[in-house]
Amino acid sequence: SKSLVVLVSGNGSNLQAILDQIELGKINGKVSAVIANKESAYGLTRAKNANIPAIFIDHKGFDSRQEYDQKLMQTINQYQPDLIVLAGFMRILTPVFVEHYLGRMLNIHPSLLPKYKGLDTHQRAIDAKDKEHGASVHFVTPELDGGPVVLQSKVPIFAEQETDELAQRVQEQERKMYPLVINWFCTNRLKMVNNKAVLDDKELPEMGYA
Ligand code: GAR
Repeated sequence: SKSLVVLVSGNGSNLQAILDQIELGKINGKVSAVIANKESAYGLTRAKNANIPAIFIDHKGFDSRQEYDQKLMQTINQYQPDLIVLAGFMRILTPVFVEHYLGRMLNIHPSLLPKYKGLDTHQRAIDAKDKEHGASVHFVTPELDGGPVVLQSKVPIFAEQETDELAQRVQEQERKMYPLVINWFCTNRLKMVNNKAVLDDKELPEMGYA
């Protein structure tokens, strides 16, 4: 079974979904540690409740992003993870860090990538009058929110839908799709080869598996 380290900044509902699916035997892995860059991240409490090491690394105390990421890397590597899972981790990572875990780090992003990289994705989709929105799981590469997509899940946008309501519906999809993709990785079905996501030895299309 694979060792996972999960990075969070907030609520940790994706983390919880992963922990729940591990408990149910649906993921061939275990969470070895949860690390947050925010002391108040509820994800840390979720980790403690599951008897998993919960570590806060404060950005204060570090002069540069490089130094912070160096510390992050040292901490992560103590757990010898097979996979790094970004689950609502809201800090940009340096290229050195990303390269170190290339092909071994996944992120979930609340949009149908390549649309709406960055922040405020739900509001931007509504403002653009898009008919659909969703979430994407992708391998992390040095290009921000630009790594190869593995899986996307779509939700319709209803007329004059409120942002919170849309965000909730997207997050419901996230909690289903992320554990699934993580298990593909943990069962050696999913790899990154030449900057492409490969599932069962088949290259996935640009927009991932849908
Ligand atoms: C999720 O919707 C995730 O897609 C998003 O943050 C939320 C975290 O929720 N991630 C990003 O925006 C990454 N840039 P959670 O803490 O409850 O899992």
